[in-house]
Amino acid sequence: MRGHDIEAPVRERDAAIPRLPGDAAVPLLAEGYGYGARRFERLGSDAFRTRLVGLPVTFVRGAEAARFCAEGDRFSRTAAMPASVLHSLQDEGSVQTLAGDAHRSRKALFLDLLDGSGRERMRSLLREEWDAALEDWQGADTVRLHEAVAEVLTRAACRWAGLPLDDDAADARTAEFLAMLDGAGAFGPPNWRGRLRRRATERWAQERVRDARDGNRGAALERLLTHRDADGRGLNDEVATVELLNLLRPTVAVGRFAVFAALALHQHPAWAERFRSGDEEHLRGFVQEVRRTAPFFPLIAGRATHELEWRGERFAPGALVALDIFATHRDARLWREPLRFRPERHAATGGSDDHRAHAVNALIAQGAGDDLATSHRCPGEPLAIELLEEIVRLLTRRMTYEVPAQDLGVDLRRFPTLPRSGFLMTEIRRT
Ligand code: HEM
Repeated sequence: MRGHDIEAPVRERDAAIPRLPGDAAVPLLAEGYGYGARRFERLGSDAFRTRLVGLPVTFVRGAEAARFCAEGDRFSRTAAMPASVLHSLQDEGSVQTLAGDAHRSRKALFLDLLDGSGRERMRSLLREEWDAALEDWQGADTVRLHEAVAEVLTRAACRWAGLPLDDDAADARTAEFLAMLDGAGAFGPPNWRGRLRRRATERWAQERVRDARDGNRGAALERLLTHRDADGRGLNDEVATVELLNLLRPTVAVGRFAVFAALALHQHPAWAERFRSGDEEHLRGFVQEVRRTAPFFPLIAGRATHELEWRGERFAPGALVALDIFATHRDARLWREPLRFRPERHAATGGSDDHRAHAVNALIAQGAGDDLATSHRCPGEPLAIELLEEIVRLLTRRMTYEVPAQDLGVDLRRFPTLPRSGFLMTEIRRT
């Protein structure tokens, strides 16, 4: 391996997209999230072609590329990403594997479940579970926010779905969701652990689905089981289980953003003070800035469903394209001083401060596309934003705590990553 040197690009005749020789797998693991960003900068290009584990792939960044990848059923996610990423989306029959009318109809189910009242219910369950957990946190020497917030979210999400958990089940489900999320980007043993956990959770979820078919239903589960797809058919047990987990697991994953929100409050105490005083003018911007700066999903991969053209370049059917989220969030043409944490930048547009029209496709932590209903953009995005706002309120106004000396460094070579300590808190008091 040649250290972290960037390979010399080969410019093909007539090709606008530079091609890097060699395979991206080793440098991607060695450099982590920053792999693409360094190359886009170095090449002065929003795209480059290379190979990933032997397969030809084009890395792209930016708002325009994001929209191109997200809309018009141009790319299929099937077989483009490892099966164990944060959601269980890749499973056969799940919303992310569908296209056209079938996708729209299934996506409508998610948007319906996650509408204003569905989100309000989840927020209020989050507050209740947070309050109950605070009782325990006050008696503890040290609380590790990563696990603590995951348990609160697991309990809230399962109650929301109509599947309340007793203490033992809450511990087991939380541990399983965390192991699945931790193993999502890893190769080798952590990933196997994630897969084993995944099977246990799938069994649990499938039993709940079967119970529910026998009439023992909660609100969200009821909606899942009475849904009709575009072809008029309901979901079978396997697909209902996958979609149930597509609601629960990523809700728990919002906890990872919550850890980065706590880190940002700690590193920018003036913001914590503002929120503590009840000033919420930039609360939404703060949360958006956390979602922009926190390294989470590094990229979204898709395969061309038919022959495509982008910026005069041809993509053959089946061509693999990786939309680089991390690089897009650090693109200085979209974000003035991208490395600075500046919630105010979101005030005018809800997104990029420099390119109003592109704002919605510049902040792509949860996918791209102008329209949730027809693109593959994450239907849980509004929920994630609102839960994070609520968590910032709870951290600043419901409690006080100390942040003891600890390793808050973030290893950018781990997918998905976190502050190493998981964010330790002491002397927690309810206010
Ligand atoms: C932790 C925060 C979350 C992150 C980082 C995240 C990220 C993503 C990403 C990157 C995609 C893929 C977009 C694409 O393929 O173009 C996606 C899709 C999806 N997400 Fe999330 N998500 C989060 C939270 C949620 C929540 C809370 C839910 C539901 C309660 C959810 C449900 C889904 C579903 C069902 C899809 C598939 C959408 C489709 O194919 O049309 N996600 N998410």
